Amino acid sequence: MVMQSQVVASAFKSPGLTAYKRSYQKKGQKDIHEQVFGSLSEIVGDHHVPKRVVYPGCHRHITASLCFPNMDYVDCDKKVANVYQDEVVKDWILSETQEQSSTTTTIARPKWTFTCTSYAAMAQNAKFEDESYDLMISLSAGIVSEPCSRYIRPGGHFLVNDSHADASAAFVAKDESSNKTAKLFRLIAVWKDGLWNTADLEDYFQTTKGEYISVEQAREAAEIGSVSKRSFRLLKGAPFYLFRKKAADDGDTAAAAAAAGESKGQSRKRRRVK
Ligand SMILES: C[S@@+](CC[C@H](N)C(=O)[O-])C[C@H]1O[C@@H](n2cnc3c(N)ncnc32)[C@H](O)[C@@H]1O
Repeated sequence: MVMQSQVVASAFKSPGLTAYKRSYQKKGQKDIHEQVFGSLSEIVGDHHVPKRVVYPGCHRHITASLCFPNMDYVDCDKKVANVYQDEVVKDWILSETQEQSSTTTTIARPKWTFTCTSYAAMAQNAKFEDESYDLMISLSAGIVSEPCSRYIRPGGHFLVNDSHADASAAFVAKDESSNKTAKLFRLIAVWKDGLWNTADLEDYFQTTKGEYISVEQAREAAEIGSVSKRSFRLLKGAPFYLFRKKAADDGDTAAAAAAAGESKGQSRKRRRVK
């Protein structure tokens, strides 16, 4: 076990950690995602940290392990594997989480796996079971939601950005088990100005013409990429979106949202990051 008092930052040196820091800790600044991931449990589970998390298209983004103790990372680029095979990186994660912990409870060494595969091929790997993850993360890695939403458990969560239009894809995704009439996901929060916001979510994924983005427009966004070349504009955007996957007892997604008091004007919460 690494005791915080026995180590200094310079003790953690390895090619994997250097590569991570080069990508995610620009100019020595902490990765912004640490705040985003770290405060997510306030929204998803009454301060319960998601137990099993899968991150397709992860690159070397081990920031997730600072916040989630049990990660399954997936990327098709074998060059990023070094960070996940590096025990010094695990030592560093443990040291960082111990430093940030406000309790004296012993913090377990982070657990993770790294699978080098296309996320489209995860179904061929028995290790990835349907509906087995509490949280899936998709950040700037293409349309992860289409092949991978199956791995999120009902009522589980999907943290996603829209830089490759994956948040738009999630917004329009239909629940295949319900004659494709109900939505697969419900937007429950957006990250804005350093906070998870749960108010006025109905403004998101609306086009400037006042209609919600269609399946065709979401597809166009994924294919064209560049926002300026699209045939439509979204009214509002956010750097991160948090969706909840439909559960059997949710009924219709819109009805569930209304029942949860999240229709316009009823939800005014803004969660401050600790
Ligand atoms: C722009 S990087 C984003 C990395 C990380 N999610 C982040 O936000 O920092 C995209 C990553 O997705 C991976 N990727 C792209 N397509 C993929 C696929 N079909 N299967 C697995 N990984 C993929 C790339 O190898 C790359 O590491």
